[in-house]
Amino acid sequence: MELATADISRAPVASTPELPPGPDWSLLKSTQRWWRRPLQTLDQCHVRYGDMFTYRMAHEGTWVFLSDPEAIKQVFTGDPRLLHAGEANIALLPVLGEHSVLLLDEPAHMKERKLMLPSFHGKRMQAYREVMAQVAADEIDRWPTDRPVRMRPRMQAMTLEIILRAVFGVDEGERLSRLRDELRRTLNLLANPKRAIFMVLLGPERLRRFGPFRRNLERVDRVLFEEIAARRGAADLAERDDILSLLLQARHEDGAPMSDEELRDELMTLLVAGHETTATALSWAVELLARHPAELDRLETEVAAGEDAYLDAVIKETLRLRPVIALVLRKLVEPMEIGGRLLPAGVRVAPSIYLVHRNPEIYPEPERFRPERFIEQPAGTYTWIPFGGGVRRCLGASFAEFEMAVVLRELVARRRLRHVGEPEHSVRSTITNVPNRGAEVLASPR
Ligand code: HEM
Repeated sequence: MELATADISRAPVASTPELPPGPDWSLLKSTQRWWRRPLQTLDQCHVRYGDMFTYRMAHEGTWVFLSDPEAIKQVFTGDPRLLHAGEANIALLPVLGEHSVLLLDEPAHMKERKLMLPSFHGKRMQAYREVMAQVAADEIDRWPTDRPVRMRPRMQAMTLEIILRAVFGVDEGERLSRLRDELRRTLNLLANPKRAIFMVLLGPERLRRFGPFRRNLERVDRVLFEEIAARRGAADLAERDDILSLLLQARHEDGAPMSDEELRDELMTLLVAGHETTATALSWAVELLARHPAELDRLETEVAAGEDAYLDAVIKETLRLRPVIALVLRKLVEPMEIGGRLLPAGVRVAPSIYLVHRNPEIYPEPERFRPERFIEQPAGTYTWIPFGGGVRRCLGASFAEFEMAVVLRELVARRRLRHVGEPEHSVRSTITNVPNRGAEVLASPR
């Protein structure tokens, strides 16, 4: 589903850097609008200013949104020394830590990413099928059968449990429940949009010194470091296939293992990047399926026959129509030509996942939930971008798609979904865009 033509670069590029047009709202107004109604704001600005517009954000500086696939391709394939993603995510530093792959740039980022990539390779995901299916089945069997159930908290519990087992490699017992409690407490800190705004306003340095925040993090770190130490000494380390055990055995190019601090930061990164995102995507999948009985029927039939193609298309279409994250960010280190315009150093370019997924030239009837479109044509590298792209593309993309498939397979085999009330719309929850009633459905037994 690539666009056939893109002649944006035909016009001569101005030699002095300049910003594209955008709303001339006050900083307060544009920041508030973004926090309150991000998707509507993107739609409005797109209608008014087209595929490239400037948007100013308090504490974040100047953003330039992009929705033309050719311009997005330039960003995803551009020199990572000039396009800093880590720097653009710096607000997460106090929680994720300085070694986090999400926050590093340039050679330090590539070094860390190279070390982690093999553990997330698509082919390895089969190792997690059983544990994911077991967690999903146990969770689904606890849902009420006779009254509506809100998917989002249920899916959050499920994806947290899957990360604890498949990524952290923790089994039953007291250690699992301590880790679960501590991690949940930390995730709650981030889940509340008001607290998140407070964190952004305070800035990473002051936040790190802020008492209640620091104490919370010290508690969770204690449990994480205990887990890392125990695993380092585990007799069966070489036979284990959880991600922590693989990372403990991985070696940097100079032969050095990952330090405890590095492992702690990456575990926290995988938790924060992989928990809420996958739970939200699953909630949207259920919300959409419950409202589309013909698509749900087809999914049930194909899953019962052991076919995966339609299931994969349902996942792709969910992530297209309801992208969990609306944009990705790269900070320009030097002026750079993007989309036929020389943009100034220091701005953050923001390929808009949401806008490109709604382009009717790429996706006819973009508002319709129609999984078939991904059977008719494969997803394009720069037109289907729920996981971002290039050297920063989501490390957990295969993990997330595999997990969604396992969970949805268990779900349609066990329950019959029916919708409740009006269709849900997207509202902001810190960084993800979630269903406004938490994806409320009836899930009666089969
Ligand atoms: C549906 C679920 C998910 C969505 C929609 C999602 C989306 C994203 C996006 C948009 C990015 C930024 C990409 C860019 O800047 O180009 C990202 C980065 C990342 N994600 Fe995910 N993600 C999901 C699940 C996961 C999972 C399950 C994990 C791990 C267990 C994970 C780990 C990461 C990491 C480590 C990065 C940073 C990569 C880097 O900077 O090199 N994500 N994700």
